[in-house]
Amino acid sequence: MNTNKKSLEFCIIGCGRLGISLAVFLSKQGFIPKAFSSKSRDSAQKALEFAGRGQVYDNPVDAVKTCDLVFITTPDTIIEPVCEKIAEENGFNSDSFVYHLSGALSSGILTSAKNNGASTGSIHPLQAFAPYEKGQKSPFKGINMSIEGDDTAIEFGKEIVNALRANSFTIPTHAKTVYHASAVVASNYLVTLEHFALELLKEADLSEENAYEILEPLIMGTLNNIKARGSVNALTGPVARGDDEIVSRHLSDIDKKLPRFSKLYRLMGQYTLDIADRRGEISDDARQKLAGLFEF
Ligand SMILES: NC(=O)c1ccc[n+]([C@@H]2O[C@H](COP(=O)([O-])OP(=O)(O)OC[C@H]3O[C@@H](n4cnc5c(N)ncnc54)[C@H](OP(=O)(O)O)[C@@H]3O)[C@@H](O)[C@H]2O)c1
Repeated sequence: MNTNKKSLEFCIIGCGRLGISLAVFLSKQGFIPKAFSSKSRDSAQKALEFAGRGQVYDNPVDAVKTCDLVFITTPDTIIEPVCEKIAEENGFNSDSFVYHLSGALSSGILTSAKNNGASTGSIHPLQAFAPYEKGQKSPFKGINMSIEGDDTAIEFGKEIVNALRANSFTIPTHAKTVYHASAVVASNYLVTLEHFALELLKEADLSEENAYEILEPLIMGTLNNIKARGSVNALTGPVARGDDEIVSRHLSDIDKKLPRFSKLYRLMGQYTLDIADRRGEISDDARQKLAGLFEF
């Protein structure tokens, strides 16, 4: 760590799922919890108890004055107004570091702290955090965390991520929203897609549990193929083969039995056809027939 001792002392504003986990696992790595402030005193008190040391402050301004490393871990919509309120009262020490951990928002929402002389950044863990439970394993270990912000905040951010035993990568400030959209598609929409697949198998009289077990090796094999060969080359199946007859059969069954998925199947088909097309392996005739089937 090439920063001075003062910047290892940190405060947490917003003591919820991420704020408490961050406090616990940073303190295990030599960072020093100094102050906790939250909407309710109870949450701040809970954070202090889990982290093992520090002090609870009702006013976030008093909390941030105690240290040079500030994490604002409130819900996304509150980060900017909370930061502005602290800055208005000159709460941030000049030369301090101020971070938030939102995936969708950039360090731009911390401009008021920057105007107080702080370095500002965002550090986003690609992980789903449940409420902290005493003695649990670190949810940070081995995960990937994006960092964005001014140069100084990025450099210190890398040290923070490294201390959490996670991997860091940097992204441009302007790309924060599209980066977060990617994470939503990769995680949340994958769930939607697998739910769709499971509903189709239920139509074949399989329970959700059995259906998942049946599909799991296929799902994992596909993920491995993407990793090994890239998303374009990992594509297999009737669209990649230009087999419009099979796709037509799927559609007539789905339209009849599960019409609520008709649009989704067609929309996914349109994008899958784009990917197949990039490989240049399907004939013009098959492409046109498939494109016609996928229209809605
Ligand atoms: N959870 C995740 O999986 C996850 C993953 C990646 C990033 N993040 C990011 O982490 C941040 C926090 O998310 P979270 O899931 O930890 O949310 P959370 O569990 O709802 O915690 C937010 C905390 O902020 C406190 N708070 C609300 N308004 C406040 C105010 N005006 N001043 C001070 N504290 C206030 C709440 O206080 P009280 O408890 O005192 O009422 C709550 O404890 C967000 O930016 C989110 O995007 C979350």
